[in-house]
Amino acid sequence: MDDFILGLPKCELHVHLEGTLEPTMAATMAARHGVERAPVTRPPAFEGLADFLAAYYADMAGLRDEADFTELTARYLETARHHGVRYAELFFDPQAHTARGVPFATVVTGIRRAQEAARAQGGPDTELVMCFLRDESVESARATLAESLPYRERGWILGVGLDSDERGNPPEKFAGVFADARAAGYRLTAHCDPRQEHSIAHLWQCVEVIGVDRIDHGTECVADPRLCDELARRRLGLTSCPLSNLRLYGTLMADEIYELMSRGVLVTLNSDDPAYFGGYVADNYEAVASALGLSRKELGALAKSSFEASWLPPERKAAYERAVDEHVHGWRQR
Ligand code: HPA
Ligand code: ZN
Repeated sequence: MDDFILGLPKCELHVHLEGTLEPTMAATMAARHGVERAPVTRPPAFEGLADFLAAYYADMAGLRDEADFTELTARYLETARHHGVRYAELFFDPQAHTARGVPFATVVTGIRRAQEAARAQGGPDTELVMCFLRDESVESARATLAESLPYRERGWILGVGLDSDERGNPPEKFAGVFADARAAGYRLTAHCDPRQEHSIAHLWQCVEVIGVDRIDHGTECVADPRLCDELARRRLGLTSCPLSNLRLYGTLMADEIYELMSRGVLVTLNSDDPAYFGGYVADNYEAVASALGLSRKELGALAKSSFEASWLPPERKAAYERAVDEHVHGWRQR
């Protein structure tokens, strides 16, 4: 791993905590709770989103109590710190746990404990983004939103997102829930995965119907110049995940990422489900850097974009962006 990339201050905006569950931890937790399951093995690649999601949900069976969620989160935060992550907005999927009888409070309290410990011990600093499972009902999303509100009030959850199987589940299905989430003070984001049916229509719905504050993946917008212009005009962040693209669709989509950068779209690099896709965030930067032959200045620009696309207040964004500049300039003088 390139030390410049590893030490580059970064913001991670697209990582699912459940997607950081490494196979050994999944097996240990399952055994601890006596959960019947096949030993976890992860294939080198998946045949698209649905194939990945089947493994992702099955492997969560051992996540049952508060300590499990603390351990999962602590382990990710330790790795993230090693990868130069200074700040992250972390996804979690409460419905994947409440459907198995794990209380919402167990999930958020367990995660929170690890967030606070990391914050006290040198970082990274983190916030939580709660995702609705789009292949579940609107009523289930509504109930989940209602359950989350006490934690919104405590400042434990910053935003809501939309993930899981996009096929037949367009963003507009959740327009009402997102409107209520906005009214409750949440920031909004939604997945528009690569290579989906009606990708472009779903992207436009995110922008024009939901009014999102960010889009997860979203790289398919390159096919629609008018959409690219609109995303660039709004400085709406896209959270691209190159190694996820590679393991699900056989391409990093590095050329698309470069084209988006060139068109002024606020594209960022992230890890999605790093325990499944073979790399954490610095690995994603490295994969794109070597595919495109990016300079240190261009890598610095990508890192600055990651902070700009975050939901931090402007003065904190500026401080992190200065840290990126110092890293890039300091490196040149070595
Ligand atoms: N897309 C949709 N659902 C997901 C993803 C993703 O990238 N990761 C975890 N759940
Ligand atoms: Zn994702």
